[in-house]
Amino acid sequence: MGEAAGIRAAAARAVAAVAGNGQRLESALAEVVPGRAQRPAIQSLAFGTLRWYFELDACLGLLLDRPAAALDPEIRALALVGLFQLSHGATPAHAAVAETVEATRVLGRPRAAGLVNALLRRFQREGAAIMGRAHENPQARHAHPSWLLDALMHEWPDHWQVIVAAGNAEPPMWLRVNRRHGTRDAYLARLAAAGMSAECSAFAPEALRLAQPVNVGELPGFAEGAVSVQDAAAQLAPYFLAAQSGMRVLDACAAPGGKACHMLELEPGIAELVALDIDPLRSKRIEENLSRLRLTAKVVVGDAANADWWDGRAFDRILLDAPCSGTGVIRRHPDIKLLRRPDDIARFRAAQLALLRSVYALLTPGGRLLYASCSVLRAENSAMVGEFLSADSTALDVTESARLLLPGVAPVQCPGPGCALPSGAADADGFYYACLEKRA
Ligand SMILES: C[S@@+](CC[C@H](N)C(=O)[O-])C[C@H]1O[C@@H](n2cnc3c(N)ncnc32)[C@H](O)[C@@H]1O
Repeated sequence: MGEAAGIRAAAARAVAAVAGNGQRLESALAEVVPGRAQRPAIQSLAFGTLRWYFELDACLGLLLDRPAAALDPEIRALALVGLFQLSHGATPAHAAVAETVEATRVLGRPRAAGLVNALLRRFQREGAAIMGRAHENPQARHAHPSWLLDALMHEWPDHWQVIVAAGNAEPPMWLRVNRRHGTRDAYLARLAAAGMSAECSAFAPEALRLAQPVNVGELPGFAEGAVSVQDAAAQLAPYFLAAQSGMRVLDACAAPGGKACHMLELEPGIAELVALDIDPLRSKRIEENLSRLRLTAKVVVGDAANADWWDGRAFDRILLDAPCSGTGVIRRHPDIKLLRRPDDIARFRAAQLALLRSVYALLTPGGRLLYASCSVLRAENSAMVGEFLSADSTALDVTESARLLLPGVAPVQCPGPGCALPSGAADADGFYYACLEKRA
């Protein structure tokens, strides 16, 4: 059985696991990838197919004379992988069709070969017309689920198209230069010497966007901690929080430690940084990052929604980078388009509010808390923070004054408390930040 067909079959299995079983793409890929060498090709097909799922599935519906749901889930996913290659892929069409048809045998369903062959060949002939008809439906045209599209159009009347375009794009690779090792310009020169080009972010002082993503092992000085991978939008957190020398800092949802390490890189005088996370496996990633970057923090496995882990000493600064819908980082996790449901948003909001109330209680009077999320939905951001502020008269929203002190001009919008970056603006992820201070 050919390797190319095996790659398509594995991609189809991963897509079926996400679309049919609600599994996360990362874990689905870990189960289906036969060997390291094939991983990039399988990943690229599975990511691309999920990125365009709502468009491709609408096309499939038009190609079939029965509901797509009646197909075997892996054959349906394989047909979508085939349609992805024909409409968005780089493989020549005849090879894409032949290998995808061959993949029916790898999947143990040789009798589906005729159906997949007929579908893909018809799409080769009539693709433009079929795509045109599919695009009459906004969900297919924008390749986002209709509930999310409606929310984005309503909440971001001037930006929803940028957000949707970002959600359909391949993500850039942003780096964070470790200021303890040198300047951003010096690292740019190291990259250039290694044959890599990059551009500086207009608003995040340590951020560089690589022209071409690479494996981290190829980055000069990565193992020694000269640089980390982190989106430009996420790199604003330490600037909003403004931790100073001598302060005690809590990162309440810290794993894998990106923002905690950035804070420590920028302010060596922090007296103690407690990096808390509920997930023991993810907490190990904090330790790994601290060790690679030669930084020190107290890593604690515990639940930020209660104070069981707390030693009773208040914090001057608290970062709450809460679990959220991830709607600002869809370009990095296209499975979010399929996995999230409208009901999830209210659940996230309730959990975020509980976490915010819980950690705010640990903030010293006069101290600052930064709530951050990579959601672009108001329910998880300004509406949730607004609910918190209306019930706690000790808390003040100081985001605007903190924003004016940022080192560059971030593309932000500020209706209600906090401020938000739409995904795609300045090629950064979508993010929300709210700076709250406790009255002294
Ligand atoms: C958005 S990620 C944090 C990313 C991190 N701040 C960074 O910059 O690398 C959210 C984290 O919250 C953690 N988490 C979820 N619920 C939690 C809870 N109740 N208490 C502590 N951590 C929690 C998750 O395990 C996850 O690692």
